[in-house]
Formats: sequence, structure tokens, C-alpha cells
Amino acid sequence: YDYDLLVVGSANADLVIGVERRPAAGETVLGSDLAVHPGGKGANQAVAAARLGARTALLARVGDDAYGRLLLDAQRAAGVDTVGVLVGGAPTGVALITVDPSGDNSIVVSPGANGRLTPEDVRAAGSLFHASRVVSTQLEIPLETVVEVVRALGPDSRFVLNPSPPRPLPRQVLDACDPLIVNEHEARVILGGAAVGDRPEDWARLLLAKGPRSVVVTLGAEGALVASADGVARIAPVAVDAVDTTGAGDAFTAALAWRLGTGSPLTEAAGYAARVGALAVTRPGAQESFPTAAEVAAL
Ligand code: RIB
Ligand code: NA
Repeated sequence: YDYDLLVVGSANADLVIGVERRPAAGETVLGSDLAVHPGGKGANQAVAAARLGARTALLARVGDDAYGRLLLDAQRAAGVDTVGVLVGGAPTGVALITVDPSGDNSIVVSPGANGRLTPEDVRAAGSLFHASRVVSTQLEIPLETVVEVVRALGPDSRFVLNPSPPRPLPRQVLDACDPLIVNEHEARVILGGAAVGDRPEDWARLLLAKGPRSVVVTLGAEGALVASADGVARIAPVAVDAVDTTGAGDAFTAALAWRLGTGSPLTEAAGYAARVGALAVTRPGAQESFPTAAEVAAL
């Protein structure tokens, strides 16, 4: 394989304002100076993996504009192969983000060019899929494009999906996931809003029954849970002081996908990913906050 990880997904300019509290409808609040960071769940995953040392490629679409150039520069600086990054068709995706004093964020995304990443674009990038050990994606691109990603997978490549933002998924996508990575909200949406109780172990079992070969449920400060035919296991949380959680889930997913590709068992890969995600929340921004392998080893 030429690549340890191929990420197919979104690239957004993150426009971030710190706030004491979020405005209610009809209200105006004053916040911090504006910060513009390279972001987007796909671009974040690619940078996170590359920074850990994975040979990484990104298949995405940005606009022919200044934000598109910012995103391409950030990918290249991190060592991501951008041969699959298409330019044009709509403005670069933008995420409007507020971060509160506890480090929690609220995000509104304008997909822009991400919404124009088509199944044809996936078919045209067929050689990237065959050159990649693991392929990961998210849901800030059209669902029909994700369906085409599953069709394009090489015979032995592994597929990892973080269905964010969540929506119900077709069976052929669920069947391909190894693992499906969800938080509580995503788990509830994928399970169709039925009463599924409050036990993460139950969500994991119910999700497994929908077709994935494995499931990871992330539980924030409670750690995570992994489930497969081998059973269900808890992954201990890594305690840190949260500064900005933006992108920490993307770093977790990328680290997990990469470790699985190197042959780590799911529980071990999830433990490593938890450390990567924990380091990411201790620093502001998304991509700029992702750790190197040396920093993870030192934690
Ligand atoms: O997961 C974090 C990302 O979500 C941000 O970088 C923002 O672009 C949104 O896509
Ligand atoms: Na961060």
C-alpha cells in the first residue's frame, strides 16, 4: 500500500469566536477576536493521521478561493498527499464556531464545495482507494458519495465511518463499517430515535446488530466503549483540562483508523486514540492542536 489512510471528507475554514455564553434567539452577545483555522472533519482527520506519522491522502473538494488555499497549505504542511483534493464548483466550506469557557463548542456548517464532492469524483479517484490500507469518512459530504466510497473500497481495505453530523444510514454503508464510531447523539440517530435506554453497552449491541463488524462509542470524559463479535470492552478516559474540544473526535477517529491499519487490536487502537483525542482538547483550534506520535508517547 502507498497510503496507510485515505480520508474522504470535508474541508472547512473554521471561523471561531470565544463567548462567555451562547446567544438565545433574537439576542446578541459580544465575543473574542475572530480566529480563522483550517478545519472540517475530513481535513482534520487527514492532518491528525499525518502528524502521527501515517502516510495519508485526502479526497475532498474546496473552492477556488482564499479559504481553499488555506486548507491546501495546511494539508501540505502536515505532510498529507493532496493529489485527491479537487478545486472549484462552489465556495470553500465554512464552519461558524463558538467556544465557551468550558471548551465546548457549537458549530454551524455551510458545506459549499463539500456538497459538490460527487460519486463521480470518487470513481475518478479509484486508484487512491486501491493504494490505501484504511479508508475513513464522515457525513459532511453527500450520502450518495459515501455510498460510492463503500463501492470503491479495495478488496482488503478497511472502512471506518464517523457518521457526523448523523443521519440514518443505508444497510450497505453500515455493513462495511469496521468500526462505526459514534458519540451518544450519533448512536441515537443511527438507531432511529427508538427508546434505547441510557446504557452505552446497549447502544453498542444494538448498533452491531445493524451490520457493522465493530462499533466504538465515545463517551467524552467517561472514555469509550468498543464492541465486536469478541464482546464489549470499556476504554478508560484520559483526564485533561479541556481548552477547546473542536476536532478532538476527528483526531480520535484518525488515530484509531491508522492504528487498526498497522494491525493493532481494536481495544489497543482505541486506547491510543483516546490519548490522541485528550491531547487535542488541551490546545485551541482543531488541526493546530493535534499531537505528534512523540507527544502521545510522552503522555
Ligand atoms: O469536528 C470538528 C469540525 O467540525 C470543525 O473543524 C468544523 O469545520 C466542523 O466541520
Ligand atoms: Na483542540
